[in-house]
Amino acid sequence: MSLFSWFNTPAATDAIQLLTHDHDTFKDLLSQINDTTERARAKRKRLFDALRTLLIAHELIEERILYPALEKHAKAKDIVLEGYQEHHVADLLLAELRTLPVTSPDWGPKVHVMGEGIEHHLKEEERKMFPKARSILSVPDLMKLGTRMAKRRGTLLAKHAKSKAEASGGGRKAPARTAPARKAAARAAKR
Ligand SMILES: [Fe+2]
Ligand SMILES: [Fe+2]
Repeated sequence: MSLFSWFNTPAATDAIQLLTHDHDTFKDLLSQINDTTERARAKRKRLFDALRTLLIAHELIEERILYPALEKHAKAKDIVLEGYQEHHVADLLLAELRTLPVTSPDWGPKVHVMGEGIEHHLKEEERKMFPKARSILSVPDLMKLGTRMAKRRGTLLAKHAKSKAEASGGGRKAPARTAPARKAAARAAKR
């Protein structure tokens, strides 16, 4: 599966449907990652990169757009505050995993523990937070939030795809000039 299929944005722009679509992708990616071994270096890296990129974008649109809309309502406040902390714990483990070689014997157990935390968080959102969101916010409000989230998510993922392409040489800069070439260019400029 290409990065683009993991990063697809569903046609529906209802905020909850958009987030649930990402949740299903996280569950799929986590189960695939947990099935890898230290020998599957490239596959581990590819799956982890997709998970990390999508998770960061997902957390950001929740924290900047959905959570603030819910936080001001007393019945959603506690679950939203818990959500921020669960994101924070996932971010710490993501950062540790990013710098740990995928061949390390610690990588598998660490990603497994992170996955358990993420799955707990997804369940909390799906079973507690999202039903509260549907009872607090109207359908047009959820559509408006969903449109904003889809746009921001698309921008973040496109930025990531661009920097990946540049890092792999797709958007290669012009090669640095050698000293003779620099002198020739300076001479030409004086003419
Ligand atoms: Fe979520
Ligand atoms: Fe979340």
